[in-house]
Amino acid sequence: MGDLIVGLDIGTSKVCTIIGEGDKSGELHIIGIGYYPCNGVKKGVVVDIDETAYSITKSIEQAERMANQKISSVYLKIYGGLTTIYKNNGVVAVSREDREITKQDVDRVLQAAKIIAIPSDKEIIDVIPLEYTVDGYGEIKDPVGMAGIRLEVNAAIVTGSVTAIQNMGKCVRKAGLEIEGIVVGPLATSEAVLSRDEKELGVALIDVGAGVTDISVFKNGSLIYSSMIAVGGWHITNDLSVGLKVSFEEAENIKKRYGTLEKVAPEKLEPIKITSLAGKSKTTTDINEISDIIEARVSELLMLVYDKLEEAEVLEDIVTNVVITGGGISFLKGNVELAQKIFNRNVRIGAPQNIGVATPIYSAGVGVVKYVYKNKKFIYNLQGSDKKERKSSKLVNKLKEIFSDFWA
Ligand SMILES: Nc1ncnc2c1ncn2[C@@H]1O[C@H](COP(=O)(O)OP(=O)(O)OP(=O)(O)O)[C@@H](O)[C@H]1O
Ligand SMILES: [Mg+2]
Repeated sequence: MGDLIVGLDIGTSKVCTIIGEGDKSGELHIIGIGYYPCNGVKKGVVVDIDETAYSITKSIEQAERMANQKISSVYLKIYGGLTTIYKNNGVVAVSREDREITKQDVDRVLQAAKIIAIPSDKEIIDVIPLEYTVDGYGEIKDPVGMAGIRLEVNAAIVTGSVTAIQNMGKCVRKAGLEIEGIVVGPLATSEAVLSRDEKELGVALIDVGAGVTDISVFKNGSLIYSSMIAVGGWHITNDLSVGLKVSFEEAENIKKRYGTLEKVAPEKLEPIKITSLAGKSKTTTDINEISDIIEARVSELLMLVYDKLEEAEVLEDIVTNVVITGGGISFLKGNVELAQKIFNRNVRIGAPQNIGVATPIYSAGVGVVKYVYKNKKFIYNLQGSDKKERKSSKLVNKLKEIFSDFWA
């Protein structure tokens, strides 16, 4: 058995579990998938611990059965919009007498970069090295094995809302699992749906879920902007429910069956039978009535995203594409054309390429696994591959402090 990595995406509509396994040649395989509906999260924050814990258990069980493995710990996705990124430098003297830089030196310099004042409601969840400098020579990606006296790092210090992390942690603990690490949503999702070139040149990643749209921009390989708005696919369903006077469930079915923003010529319109809320009688609508409602909400949502990007002055950093993922608007016909008009950029829908998970609703879950697999040797809190060592790592200790009443 290779190294197992379990990614957990607790979303507004579902809990998604992805189990990845690295083989000897260093390739990652998805060996387990779990998907279970969940209504315990609203606007990115847990509102029902019991329901969320139950959905986590169910989702994990499914993935365990598929992979034929027992899961005890997971990596958790946190919405990008609930995180803040600070840049900071760290400097240390190389410890070995022969001046060869070791993994320990890298760990020490990353620890040094962590010394930064952050607000009390924020917690450091990740330290991402952006560039190392050895004796004044910069742009080094991996200094281990090089010779030098002075090792510097320029790092992105990722902080997350303590409350959000605590409550997600409570749900995970209640489901009988440990948290091995926390991964920032857009960093994870980008591994599943963005190309290296896009991230280097400049790209926007828009994960429209059921209740949250996580907005991010990457440039020079790094995440340079992240925010969120509390609007998603369920708002479209709600609009259909109100506009067509049908139940939420019926509206969700109509959206999934006829979901389009495109119009049909009046002479080609055909009546569509729907079950009205009033007296459960059958009434009719047509595709243009449905697409009018959907289009209004989708354009409003995309315009809100545009405004956020404009306000943050990052529009000009989006040199390549705007990539839309998540289930919220990815399946709606005509989405790309509308987004292209609003952003005045090339737009595409992003989804993981792996067999069995090639849908935008798995982007974040698959991304967590890919991110951890790729960055394992750089994740400062995961010193060594042995479990005991991981548990004693600094981040886990910090998490133990936060979740002290839930840690066994
Ligand atoms: N075939 C489909 N057609 C239209 N919409 C769909 C379809 N399948 C799923 N959706 C919508 O996708 C949304 C769920 O997407 P996703 O799984 O990405 O959300 P989530 O991760 O649970 O939520 P969030 O990221 O907001 O917390 C729901 O609003 C659902 O209605
Ligand atoms: Mg989501």
